[in-house]
This record gives sequence, structure tokens and C-alpha cells, in this order.
Amino acid sequence: MALPNPGPLLTGVAPRVGAIPGWFNLDDLAHFSLVLSTQTTSGIHGDLLEIGCYHGRSAAVLAMHLQADERLFLADAFDLPLDDPYGDTPTPEQVWQNLANAVPNLPRERVSIKRAYSNNVQLPPDTRVRFAHIDGGHDAATVRADLALCARYLMPGGVMAIDDYAHPQYPGVTEAVNEFLDSQASFHILADLNRSGALGRKLYLARMREAA
Ligand SMILES: C[S@@+](CC[C@H](N)C(=O)[O-])C[C@H]1O[C@@H](n2cnc3c(N)ncnc32)[C@H](O)[C@@H]1O
Repeated sequence: MALPNPGPLLTGVAPRVGAIPGWFNLDDLAHFSLVLSTQTTSGIHGDLLEIGCYHGRSAAVLAMHLQADERLFLADAFDLPLDDPYGDTPTPEQVWQNLANAVPNLPRERVSIKRAYSNNVQLPPDTRVRFAHIDGGHDAATVRADLALCARYLMPGGVMAIDDYAHPQYPGVTEAVNEFLDSQASFHILADLNRSGALGRKLYLARMREAA
């Protein structure tokens, strides 16, 4: 059977996302789009959060799915010192420009880009997150704290995606996620997805809808 025309996901969105530096690949783009659009069609409405935005490649996909009255919160250490530093560090303003180039008419007032270590991230008290992406520090202590931060704000039906689960170079990610799953009965694995060319998987954890 002939494959259907890939349509705007590949011909329109992928080049705009791919123009931003980063490791988020086409599989990730498809997986995020599926989860985010399924939430929207299921009536799950809330904020979007990312720990570790780098230049904004994965954040651009979050921004594309932002619905009316939803907010996008991004946090990154940017130029603050890190044990495992990233070269080519952008500024928050450069990240905003990358998002604005990829997502025409993105409302500036609904996007927050914070320069902070994730353990100093403060979100407004009315934050209710429907989708979080944890892609900051990859050591166990940081991932543990980032999981706790996202879980604090994640609404029932919300999903958090953790980068580099089961990556051989980042055992701390796997350790922290497994501990979290052992201690949090209201979360289950929604998807455990490998991505073409990547050693680590993205693990998608969902908070059960009936859990308050
Ligand atoms: C792999 S990159 C993120 C890539 C991005 N999510 C994407 O897919 O386009 C990881 C980012 O996490 C940030 N980071 C690392 N440790 C952090 C920490 N403790 N707090 C905040 N940001 C951190 C780094 O500055 C870097 O920009």
C-alpha cells in the first residue's frame, strides 16, 4: 500500500524546527506532536514546561501546540557554570527569536524563558502543567529534583517526557526515573520510545486522570 502524503508535519514543521540547533530529532517531533495534540483533542488543557531548552528546538514544538490561555515555561542554566557544560550557549533572547522564527504569531507574553538552575525554578502558584519535558542536567540528583518539580505541577492526564532514559553514558537518568516510578503510584509509563540514531530513549510518564 502506498504511504500517505506526510503532509505539513514533514514539509512545513520539520524544517522550521530543524533550523534550530539541538538533538531533538524527527521521531521526537512526531512523538511530541502526537501526545500534545491527543491531549488537546481529549480536552486536557494546561501549561507546558521544559527544563533544559538549549537553543529552543524541542521548545519550538511545544510552542507550536500552545493553545489559547496556555503558557509555556522554559528554564535553562544558559551561561551559568555547569559540571557538564554545553558549548555554544545561547541567551534567553536568542531562544525567543528562534521560537518566534519557528512559530509565527507566538504571543510573547505567554512564553517565559528563565535563566536559572532547575533547582531554583519558581513557577506561578496557578501553574497546572499538561506536558513537561525534562532535558536539563543528566545526573541522578538533578533528574530526581526535576522529576519532583514537574510532578508537583503536573495535572491529572498530564505527561512528562524524560530524555536519555537507559542511555549508557547517563545512568543517573535511569536511576532517578526508576526510583520515581517505584515511589509514585499515580504515574505510569505511557510510552518508552527509541529514536532513530539516538542511544538514549525518551520515557513518557502519565499521571492518571482520576488522581487528584
Ligand atoms: C540537551 S540540552 C537541551 C536540548 C533541548 N531540550 C532540545 O531538545 O533542543 C540540555 C540543556 O540543559 C541545560 N542544563 C543542564 N543542567 C542544568 C541545570 N541544572 N539547570 C538548568 N539547566 C540545565 C543546559 O544548559 C542545556 O542547554
